[in-house]
Amino acid sequence: MAMRNIACGVACRFKSCRRRFFVNEIFYMGLPRKAGKSDIGAIMEIAKALRAWFTPAARRNMRRSFNKQRGYVIESGGKPVGFILYRQWKRVAIVTWMGVLPGEQRKGAGSTLLRAMEAALKKSRVRVVKVSTLSHTTPYVPYERTRKFYRKMGFRKLRIDREYYPDGSDRLVLSKNL
Ligand SMILES: CC(C)(COP(=O)(O)OP(=O)(O)OC[C@H]1O[C@@H](n2cnc3c(N)ncnc32)[C@H](O)[C@@H]1OP(=O)(O)O)[C@@H](O)C(=O)NCCC(=O)NCCS
Repeated sequence: MAMRNIACGVACRFKSCRRRFFVNEIFYMGLPRKAGKSDIGAIMEIAKALRAWFTPAARRNMRRSFNKQRGYVIESGGKPVGFILYRQWKRVAIVTWMGVLPGEQRKGAGSTLLRAMEAALKKSRVRVVKVSTLSHTTPYVPYERTRKFYRKMGFRKLRIDREYYPDGSDRLVLSKNL
């Protein structure tokens, strides 16, 4: 764990690639790869392990909408431990679902997935990424961590939609300019 927080990046040695790889990404995880149809089972397993965030109804929704989305998967020890799914409309993208297995969190997987998505979006000239999550105005401890993650990754509050979700909880919409 000693190297987890090493903040320096090393530039990719291929001249055509401007991406910077972070030391923790290289040693603890494989690089993210595009999610394919065959990843749905593993993604659903990860979501199932994150019960505090994804209800059975949310997981059904995730499964139903999987084919309409793009995304990335990250593996550790040869098996998927995290995923990010998103949709894109012209110059705007929306992170729809994201998760990292509880035992693999805080090792850089989430930020690595997000950066991989952002790099791909920049190439297709997307300017803004948005994400919706539970607002702090509806107190619920697990989502405090989610908000900390997005804030750390550079997302900023766009608005709060009161009583947006079916259970009456508030939605926080965040955005980040690429
Ligand atoms: C949000 C989530 C995807 C982040 O994945 P992760 O692999 O843990 O994220 P990283 O290790 O890349 O963390 C990056 C930074 O985010 C912040 N962060 C992440 N988890 C945090 C936590 N539990 N508490 C405080 N800050 C946190 C930290 O600043 C962290 O950097 P550091 O570890 O160097 O301090 C993961 O926690 C998760 O799956 N959560 C449950 C599901 C969820 O919230 N999904 C998103 C809503 S759809």
